[in-house]
Amino acid sequence: MKTIDLRSDTVTKPTQEMRDAMAGAEVGDDVYGEDPTVNRLEELSARMLGKESALLVTSGTQGNQLAVMSHTRRGDEVILERSSHIYQFEVGGMAVLSGVQAAPIDGIGGRMDPSAVESAIRGDNIHYPRTSLICLENTHNRSGGAVLPPEHMKEVCAIAQTYGIMTHLDGARLFNAATALGVPVSELAAPFDSVQICLSKGLAAPVGSILAGSREFIQAARKFRKMLGGGMRQAGVIAAAGIVALTRMTERLKEDHDNARLLAQGLSEIPGLRIDMASVQTNMVFGAIADPGRNAGQLAEFLANRHIRINVLDAGHFRLVTHKDVDSGDIDNVLDGMRQFFAESQAYPVTGKTVSFKDNY
Ligand SMILES: Cc1ncc(COP(=O)(O)O)c(C=O)c1O
Repeated sequence: MKTIDLRSDTVTKPTQEMRDAMAGAEVGDDVYGEDPTVNRLEELSARMLGKESALLVTSGTQGNQLAVMSHTRRGDEVILERSSHIYQFEVGGMAVLSGVQAAPIDGIGGRMDPSAVESAIRGDNIHYPRTSLICLENTHNRSGGAVLPPEHMKEVCAIAQTYGIMTHLDGARLFNAATALGVPVSELAAPFDSVQICLSKGLAAPVGSILAGSREFIQAARKFRKMLGGGMRQAGVIAAAGIVALTRMTERLKEDHDNARLLAQGLSEIPGLRIDMASVQTNMVFGAIADPGRNAGQLAEFLANRHIRINVLDAGHFRLVTHKDVDSGDIDNVLDGMRQFFAESQAYPVTGKTVSFKDNY
């Protein structure tokens, strides 16, 4: 029986086309710069993102951390949204790897108020750290996959430029934002000094992310990647799937967005659940339990017993992510399961055997 896994789009399996491309990939030693498939992927992604240069990295986390390392000096301060992935879910890497501190700002729908960003920029005072980097995230994961509008990103980047501060875009799901907005990713990446995109989420490649920016920036990041053990040898095997991801998988993201909307619509009609439809903009649905007798752990366990996996955020909240391995028939099955959970009268004990909390962002 098929398991419907809605915990994240990171669970997507590579397509047959990717597997074929990987098996037949032309390879060389990428630390010597001699892997033709990696070189092809890096050139393709630089072109798509409208940047001079690009680097294949092992993961979104590595891409973001290399950006912070390359843009900052020890003791600097980085402005970023409080619930952003870089601040919350990268194991404190900024502090450990770059020796910088964060100046987190609360956002709404992932958006920091531009005037709050400007106020957080440190002046020229002997006591202050130097503000050297501002990071944005689009789509914004913890805001339910919300899309940051291009004008907002331009406004924040213009402020940064006025003060000579670098900007980085965590675009783990930038293609989802581009799909929702109907614009090319290059337009969204344009105001930023650097951008990171994930190949291994909705685009379904098994491994890898891309970091892009100026030639000089990528040179610095390449060296730091080596330092972190991310210099891979015959990485063309991975890059081959990345090329398929960028050339064959971006157009279909609209399907995931349509399925998320369908799912959210169905959930919003179930008594006991609260869904903010306005927040459903891409491939994520965040739900709240509005029944005092039940919690998200119970719901997850009930569904897990029906081969449906969801991501529990806390006792009252859960996250569902649509992706290529979930179709509209699966959405119907999930809605049936949800309805059953709220229709049955007994309480469900959580054994913890089938559900793990906060395991995947
Ligand atoms: C917004 C965002 N940035 C970065 C990452 C990190 O990507 P990875 O899991 O490849 O390290 C994620 C992962 O979910 C993410 O959602």
